[in-house]
Amino acid sequence: MPVRSRCIGSWCNREDSGVTDVLANSREDLIAAARRAMDTAYAPYSGFHVGAALLFDDGAIVTGANFENASYGLSLCAETVAASIASHAGRRGGLVAVAVLGGMGGAVEAAISPCGRCRQVLNELAALGGTDPLVICVGAHETVEMRLSVLLPNAFGPANLA
Ligand code: THU
Repeated sequence: MPVRSRCIGSWCNREDSGVTDVLANSREDLIAAARRAMDTAYAPYSGFHVGAALLFDDGAIVTGANFENASYGLSLCAETVAASIASHAGRRGGLVAVAVLGGMGGAVEAAISPCGRCRQVLNELAALGGTDPLVICVGAHETVEMRLSVLLPNAFGPANLA
């Protein structure tokens, strides 16, 4: 079955100078990176494996996978792992896009979007560079794309503490 793309929110087609090119050139690599990252998920409790990949304006891709915990509530999502790795690597700006996918045992079916906590974590990383990244939610038969500001409108961020 062909993969359909669906865009939610008026910001999906916004052209950011230069940034659109990076995304156009790297879109498939970004999704492939998220898929590879999912293979490193540590999800013995839920069995739900998730991979996330962050694309930066210089073309760099940073990935993460969920890392669960025996104390279930302490589990880390793939997007949060990727964002913390990016920060550790000194990447605190230029976030262009995020790809996320997941499924039971790593079998991707429905497109999943970042949980509420991850939206807030991604917002912090995005806000540091003043970008509104495209979030690409990859499913087996459908890919849904929307700007982070659509997923998390009126976000609380660093500017509120300045
Ligand atoms: N999970 C993510 O990694 N990202 C999300 O955005 C949603 C949920 C993980 C957390 C947990 O390890 C598993 O998926 C089931 O909730």
